[in-house]
Amino acid sequence: MASETLTPNPGTMMRAVVQAGFGDDGTYEVQSVPKPGLKDGEVLVQVKAVSINKGDWHSRVGEPGMVKMAVDVKAKPIPGHDYAGVVVEVGPGVEGVEAGDEVFGMCDRGAFAEFVAARETDVVSMPAGVTFEDAAALASAGMTAIQALRAGAKLEAGDKVCIVGASGGVGSFAVQLAKTVFDADVTAVCSGRNAAVVRSLGADDVIDYTEVKA
Ligand SMILES: NC(=O)c1ccc[n+]([C@@H]2O[C@H](COP(=O)([O-])OP(=O)(O)OC[C@H]3O[C@@H](n4cnc5c(N)ncnc54)[C@H](OP(=O)(O)O)[C@@H]3O)[C@@H](O)[C@H]2O)c1
Repeated sequence: MASETLTPNPGTMMRAVVQAGFGDDGTYEVQSVPKPGLKDGEVLVQVKAVSINKGDWHSRVGEPGMVKMAVDVKAKPIPGHDYAGVVVEVGPGVEGVEAGDEVFGMCDRGAFAEFVAARETDVVSMPAGVTFEDAAALASAGMTAIQALRAGAKLEAGDKVCIVGASGGVGSFAVQLAKTVFDADVTAVCSGRNAAVVRSLGADDVIDYTEVKA
């Protein structure tokens, strides 16, 4: 989701999506809110693109119910985790990032806004040739995928791996990482309508879960 149509805001306020309740409809509003201030070690990023993943949906609709304890909708929080954009200001003590750097990252909440404050160590320089939209889609799902392969599955080069949910946000990264980082033999599990996509991402075999009898 790109925000190219937004005009830069030179003042102390910014436009942001705020969450005013739980549900599919009418719970997100665009409001004018204060720009985030910078603490030591933080940078201010003008957001150019964001992505929406399953965690954002859980937080929006309040399912499972325990999510409602983590999201205080009375405070109208700004949702959103994954973003890409341009650094416009650096806080005290920042050494490795400069204004003008194109970066992407993940924050606890607050990405669905014109500006996001992030720790210097939580942003990554965008490789040349990568669009803001592509970079914004990377952080949460990509990090979950690499953690699952490294720390979870303890994958080693040449292993065989079965990736359930291979056509989803996390799984599509997991298939690509399993092939390119671990040179693994990948069996992907997804619905038949997505079989060609996961093969194009590198899967060696595909199991259509809709055809498997329990
Ligand atoms: N996205 C993130 O950043 C993130 C971060 C941390 C944790 N998680 C968690 O990781 C899980 C996957 O998230 P996601 O974002 O990748 O979800 P997603 O994009 O909705 O993908 C879901 C995947 O599951 C497959 N699937 C659906 N029903 C299935 C079944 N009965 N058997 C086997 N596969 C089935 C889907 O296949 P088809 O679409 O082909 O039917 C699709 O590949 C969720 O539990 C989520 O909460 C996600």
